[in-house]
Amino acid sequence: MAIHFQGFGMSRLSIQRPDDWHVHLRDGEALKAVVGFTAQRFGRAIVMPNLKPAITTTDMAGAYRRRILAALPADSRFQPLLTLYLTDTTSADEIERAHAAGFIHGVKLYPAGATTHSAAGVTDIRHVHDALARMEKLGMRLLVHGESTQAEVDVFDRESHFIDSVLAPLLDRFPALKVVFEHITTRRAVEFVRTARAGVAATITPQHLLHNRNAIFNGGIKPHFYCLPILKREHDRQALLEAATSGSPRFFLGTDSAPHEQATKENACGCAGMFTAHAAIELYAEAFESAGRLDRLEAFASHFGADFYGLPRHAERITLVKETWTAPPQYAFGQGALIPYRAGEPIAWRLAQMRSRA
Ligand code: NCD
Ligand code: ZN
Repeated sequence: MAIHFQGFGMSRLSIQRPDDWHVHLRDGEALKAVVGFTAQRFGRAIVMPNLKPAITTTDMAGAYRRRILAALPADSRFQPLLTLYLTDTTSADEIERAHAAGFIHGVKLYPAGATTHSAAGVTDIRHVHDALARMEKLGMRLLVHGESTQAEVDVFDRESHFIDSVLAPLLDRFPALKVVFEHITTRRAVEFVRTARAGVAATITPQHLLHNRNAIFNGGIKPHFYCLPILKREHDRQALLEAATSGSPRFFLGTDSAPHEQATKENACGCAGMFTAHAAIELYAEAFESAGRLDRLEAFASHFGADFYGLPRHAERITLVKETWTAPPQYAFGQGALIPYRAGEPIAWRLAQMRSRA
């Protein structure tokens, strides 16, 4: 990695091409609208399977992969890494097929009702013990949306409750299962991952590094800051920033960029999800710079995730320039509009080159 300072705060940052270990690319026109942003920045991305209908079989994942590849710009070398959506009835044989296919890199656990398109999710972890045992045997990673869904659990406590009631016992029961605790949001989750057994890691989003929950209520209710797990306290944000910039290989980049059409966000019952793919690596650069740790961005963005998934790091590099640009007020999104994070507001880092050789 190279940081070149050019006076008056201007600097360039060259890093190995990063990967996004958690993204929602959607399907159809929405897919076409957003995939280019991710493909410009990242070499690979773990593509979440919460479509309607959910991607529950190897065949469905294969067909979705072909649709993603068809939606990419002609010269793109971006590689989508597919995932299966775990349900109460996912069989060990389906896990075996997914593993044999080669293009499926993880299986996503959504507790039923936890988030967008999670109705088909797991209602009781005991229902998936056979599938998990097979994953453990094959070395297939389990990706976890770690929130309890019981109505009586406070929305801000759902992650913590999930650690005690589901995740900790699961890690004991399947001691060799590799697990990614997705989009962690609390100091508690940071501590849990830091001290967990080997084979446990976590992704961290840019919004959880840059904001606390005040952003949702700043001068009025702000639906574009509503995502799940919901933003937490400042004390949690600081723990996430410390973890991301700590140099620990257990924490790596996963944007959770989750596009929703404007009318479904700005709504009496607004959808959860923030769209950050248009500036993903730039936003992480802001966060790392705020902690004075730009020197650790490359490992977080380009090394630790690849290592955890057993994939090679990229030889190619990208360059970021410390130069302010303004995110557009909206992007076209099928028939409607997509309001990006930071719409109409400045972003401190800019992607200099779409592609460069090592
Ligand atoms: C995601 C989505 O919209 O698909 N929403 C979100 O708020 N993060 C689903 C998810 O990852 O929870
Ligand atoms: Zn997500």
